[in-house]
Amino acid sequence: MADALVLTVPIFSTLCNEAFKLRRAVFITEQKVPLEEEFDHDDLTAHHLVAIIGGEVCGTLRVITMDEHIKIGRVAVSVAARGHGIASLMISQAMKDHGATRGNRFYLTAQTDKVGLYERFGFKAYGDEFLDGGMPHLAMKTY
Ligand SMILES: CC(C)(COP(=O)(O)OP(=O)(O)OC[C@H]1O[C@@H](n2cnc3c(N)ncnc32)[C@H](O)[C@@H]1OP(=O)(O)O)[C@@H](O)C(=O)NCCC(=O)NCCS
Repeated sequence: MADALVLTVPIFSTLCNEAFKLRRAVFITEQKVPLEEEFDHDDLTAHHLVAIIGGEVCGTLRVITMDEHIKIGRVAVSVAARGHGIASLMISQAMKDHGATRGNRFYLTAQTDKVGLYERFGFKAYGDEFLDGGMPHLAMKTY
């Protein structure tokens, strides 16, 4: 697979709209997350990243700056582009971009079967499993 380009995109831009389309396909259609839970006010102020291959958005995630830490979320890669390191590339870019802001304190909530993806970046799961969007999740942080 060709190298992916990872870009920051502003909300309401064409590329961000493509990213939202991808989130709809992945989370709402594929994973059956309720529509009302997928998009929220944090989308208005989040830092949105997209991965592009061959001119098409094939991955996205968002980064939210919180008081205590930086939260990474909504990590999605199109079915056709999975298994080629796209999510890893975006996570690594997000951590590079935001590491200085909260002293490398990153946080996320991971679908339990995806914990291994984030462990590679120094995240450790803590606390009890909980349901989000109907799927089991664990909180993870790097500190
Ligand atoms: C999870 C997801 C984002 C991974 O994207 P990707 O670009 O394929 O991930 P990468 O190629 O960077 O994978 C890196 C590592 O993450 C882990 N991983 C990736 N996809 C995984 C999956 N579906 N289940 C469990 N672990 C997974 C593996 O350890 C993988 O390493 P390997 O390639 O040596 O096996 C993608 O499958 C996806 O969009 N799934 C649907 C949405 C979703 O579940 N988002 C994450 C919510 S926490």
